[in-house]
Amino acid sequence: MKSGPDIRVLDTANDVFRAAANEWATLSAEAIRTKGNFTVALSGGSTPRALYALLASSSAPKLAWDRTFFFWGDERHVPPNDPESNYRMVNEAMLSKVPVPAQNIFRIHAEETDAPAAASSYERTLTEFFHLRPGEFPRFDLTLLGLGPDGHTASLFPGTVALEENQRLVVANWVAKFNTYRITFTYPVLNQSACVMFLVTGKDKSEILREVLENPGANLPSQNVRPTHGRLLWIVDRDAASSLRSHGIR
Ligand code: 6PG
Repeated sequence: MKSGPDIRVLDTANDVFRAAANEWATLSAEAIRTKGNFTVALSGGSTPRALYALLASSSAPKLAWDRTFFFWGDERHVPPNDPESNYRMVNEAMLSKVPVPAQNIFRIHAEETDAPAAASSYERTLTEFFHLRPGEFPRFDLTLLGLGPDGHTASLFPGTVALEENQRLVVANWVAKFNTYRITFTYPVLNQSACVMFLVTGKDKSEILREVLENPGANLPSQNVRPTHGRLLWIVDRDAASSLRSHGIR
């Protein structure tokens, strides 16, 4: 029986990023102690940039960068130097500032004009790195996720085909409202994670966060992220939690 989500409401966004950094450090130390490496699937968008910058700063917990292996849970269909690129955002905020070996960084090659081919290529990357047999899914030690205003996460948007995918690891998902492909992990990969950590900050997310956490009937993509053998952790700030009835700080 899966336990419910662990929902932490903290005063400020900075408190959220500090807590996330500490959680990252704890998970990393445990993973490296038990299996010699720490695998993390990163989220894009704007929220996590501050976490990445904190991890690269002098006030970060001490991390074993040489034992940390970086992947992306989704990517826009753009080259790595595009302002929209999640890889570019993470590289600028963190990877370019820390002593992580280049071979530990597995970006999605979203410059490939054929988006389905880029998704298949990333599936091969995951299969090789995690030594997957057919039908197996990779188990990330930590998967970071954000919450979109429509309840999406990664690039699993409402009403898109990828929501129904339960065989593939990574797909090119056509997102009509943006008139573009996004390359994204599927639910089986997200739900294989040892720990999924959603980071949500800001008043503009308060309504959608309440829908996701307190309205099971909303049928929103983020609600289908339920690790089968892992932890589900929401770290949110007071502004984002301001519409919650049962979890927020009053
Ligand atoms: C992306 C992310 C996406 C993001 C949400 C929240 O590629 O944009 O993977 O799922 O986490 O859209 O984005 P913000 O943090 O910018 O609100």
